[in-house]
Amino acid sequence: MKKQEICSEIKIFDSIEHLPQSVYSLMQKATQAKLNAYSPYSYFQVGAALQLANREIILGNNQENSSYPAGLCAERVALFYASANYPDQAIQMMALTASPVNTPNDQPVPPCGSCRQVIAEYEYKFDQPIEIYFMGDRGRVIAVSSIKTLLPLAFDRSFLK
Ligand code: THU
Repeated sequence: MKKQEICSEIKIFDSIEHLPQSVYSLMQKATQAKLNAYSPYSYFQVGAALQLANREIILGNNQENSSYPAGLCAERVALFYASANYPDQAIQMMALTASPVNTPNDQPVPPCGSCRQVIAEYEYKFDQPIEIYFMGDRGRVIAVSSIKTLLPLAFDRSFLK
């Protein structure tokens, strides 16, 4: 038996003001997108903004449904829109902000497991890492340079051969 450690590096910014300009502006857009979340069941709002290789910005937010599992997370709303409309454009960066309605939240909210799997799909598709930045609605922002940090040992299409 062998033991192997898997290391994950995250970066922590004290607030949105400490982000590089391009990320700051992407996070502002995610914050705008969050306002249009449709979340009458959880009252939890998530906003996502993607920057594509052609500099196009794609926004998404969570869309809930009275049949709960039919709803979709903000990340996947944005990722599927990007892939449907810009299939040849790699995704460079993703900014996420999330908080319960009317409840201040300074805890960075990471993408859920299913969204991590979908992010991994597009990293694999373009063979290019996606930088991910996530926060609550204020306070610290956590950054990772690739989904591999959040989803080590990922399942991908190479196993289907
Ligand atoms: N949600 C997201 O939009 N992204 C995540 O990564 C986690 C959860 C949404 C789904 C649902 O509308 C609400 O947050 C509560 O789970």
